[in-house]
Amino acid sequence: MLLAPSVLFPLVAVCAAAKDYVGMRFEKKFGDNYAGATKWQRPQMRLAKRNTGYEEITLTNQQSFFSVELDVGTPAQNVTVLVDTGSSDLWITGADNPYCLTYSGSGADSIPRRDRVDCSEYGTFSLEDSSTWSQNSSAPPFYITYGDTTFASGVWGQDHLHLQDVNVTGVSFAVANRTNSTVGVMGIGLPGLETTNSGSRPYTYANFPQVLKNSGATQSALYSLYLNDLEEERGSILFGAVDHSKYTGSMYTLPIINRLQSYGYTTPIQFDITLQGIGLSSSESNGDEVTITSTKMPALLDSGTTMTYLPSNIVSQIAQQLGASMSARFGQYVLPCSNVPENMHLVYDFGGFHINSNLTNYIVQASQTLCILGLFPRDSNTAILGDTFLTDAYVVYDLENLQIGLAQAKFGVSDSDAKIDIVTGSAGIPSAQRAPDYSSTWSTSVGTVTTGGNIFTLNPHETAVLISSVSGSGVVTQTVTRRTSTATSTSTQTTGTTGTTTVRRNDAIALSGNHGWIMAAAAFCCSFLY
Ligand SMILES: *[C@@H]1O[C@H](CO)[C@@H](O)[C@H](O)[C@H]1NC(C)=O
Ligand SMILES: *[C@@H]1O[C@H](CO)[C@@H](O)[C@H](O)[C@H]1NC(C)=O
Ligand SMILES: *[C@@H]1O[C@H](CO)[C@@H](O)[C@H](O)[C@H]1NC(C)=O
Ligand SMILES: *[C@@H]1O[C@H](CO)[C@@H](O)[C@H](O)[C@H]1NC(C)=O
Ligand SMILES: *[C@@H]1O[C@H](CO)[C@@H](O)[C@H](O)[C@H]1NC(C)=O
Ligand SMILES: *[C@@H]1O[C@H](CO)[C@@H](O)[C@H](O)[C@H]1NC(C)=O
Repeated sequence: MLLAPSVLFPLVAVCAAAKDYVGMRFEKKFGDNYAGATKWQRPQMRLAKRNTGYEEITLTNQQSFFSVELDVGTPAQNVTVLVDTGSSDLWITGADNPYCLTYSGSGADSIPRRDRVDCSEYGTFSLEDSSTWSQNSSAPPFYITYGDTTFASGVWGQDHLHLQDVNVTGVSFAVANRTNSTVGVMGIGLPGLETTNSGSRPYTYANFPQVLKNSGATQSALYSLYLNDLEEERGSILFGAVDHSKYTGSMYTLPIINRLQSYGYTTPIQFDITLQGIGLSSSESNGDEVTITSTKMPALLDSGTTMTYLPSNIVSQIAQQLGASMSARFGQYVLPCSNVPENMHLVYDFGGFHINSNLTNYIVQASQTLCILGLFPRDSNTAILGDTFLTDAYVVYDLENLQIGLAQAKFGVSDSDAKIDIVTGSAGIPSAQRAPDYSSTWSTSVGTVTTGGNIFTLNPHETAVLISSVSGSGVVTQTVTRRTSTATSTSTQTTGTTGTTTVRRNDAIALSGNHGWIMAAAAFCCSFLY
């Protein structure tokens, strides 16, 4: 049984009465493609024996899918779509899609049975059966392809949409009369990423978040994404509002950066922000803190990716701090599960404020004793922050002001405790403040991401900070930075020689010669840590 049915969970009470925001609950599923996605299946590592005799570890369930139900047209036809921050068009499968197994109309013979898909579970839309459908006859055909090889093509038009508690009209969406994707997509990304921007007659249109505003369902083209605890089955999106009960501490804003400017984009097309540093900290009272890097790098907030990806030298430093070693056999950083610290956080610095992410999010258990670091190296000096990070953040996507609001997510809050603040116009995110280093963003002039620095004393409430960095030769450089409202003055002194800083809890980990547990691990496959 690979396909799990999608269920509708309306946000009761909190949004039934209000008219200025739209609350939407989604069901979380994980898989390598949507057809194989199941709920409760977090990423897994599998040990597979190849016919060459070697074991290899493959990571499964690398993508996450957030499904919601929509009623379309008059009378309403219901379909399930995936909410996706990484694309910007809404499209649904047409009833005349010859790839559907049940389709028997003209052209049905042209698609071999093995290439067909089951369209019944997520539904199709028959535009002939809707009295309110209006096609955009001047629009070029719709066409999109996805990383999982599926594609969709069809026509553009408009119809009534009913989404959990609201009726929306004026949403342009595509109906695919050819697609081998089993499920449609509600892309809520930036307008610059709309597929209509390319092709012979490019144009940009108001997509879903913007139409919610234009139609009066919300007062702002902004939404808040709460993935909830990794173990929870459902998360939620609030269009046009922020729920202050779902985070702790302050919310800070950051500009969305235009990382693709050199490719000719004049405005950002994806949710890239500047990650200003990474560290590890123990949440115990005498907590140790170690900075891994304080180099700025562009980081993509990607809710469709389950794991997190960082530059390879950063991953290697984190592995070293945790006592994980690169297993030549498996091609992954591994450590004994008994050595995985429970109270350790990966700390992400976004310019003077931090999001703490539970280290256990990044540990994949491959056997009873073998754990793998689920933090993956990239060749580029950039990061992809997937669900393992996003689950610990409450993220506000402010499409009007091209800003992101970030705060430490809070779990286990009941809906009756919601503190919903409606956002009006382009006023920005209520109760949020600019990150202390808001303006200090990544730029193409920043080169390689290097290790070292100090992210822990860059506290917005401090005026003087001490930064220690250890150079390759073991020389400790201490930099005192004094911040005033107008200027920053820096003095540097070299103080002496020491060894490398380590996270004390993990000093004892030694992996060499531990062949026993690796051998034991090779025999079977594995479920995730929890
Ligand atoms: C349509 O709605 C019914 C009743 O709520 C539900 O059981 C079914 O799964 C839905 N179908 C799709 C494709 O969403
Ligand atoms: C219809 O298509 C044309 C492109 O020919 C475009 O300019 C227009 O904005 C589209 N209408 C809507 C409502 O999307
Ligand atoms: C979808 O169709 C494309 C184009 O024919 C093909 O390359 C791809 O393998 C198909 N994908 C699936 C999952 O069927
Ligand atoms: C949405 O529209 C449908 C059909 O026009 C109507 O029956 C329903 O009451 C409307 N719901 C809301 C919340 O306005
Ligand atoms: C899909 O719709 C387009 C535009 O109306 C049309 O040209 C094409 O023939 C249709 N394809 C199928 C398979 O019906
Ligand atoms: C991290 O998650 C693990 C497993 O859910 C939990 O036992 C631990 O208390 C968490 N640590 C912190 C600091 O929240």
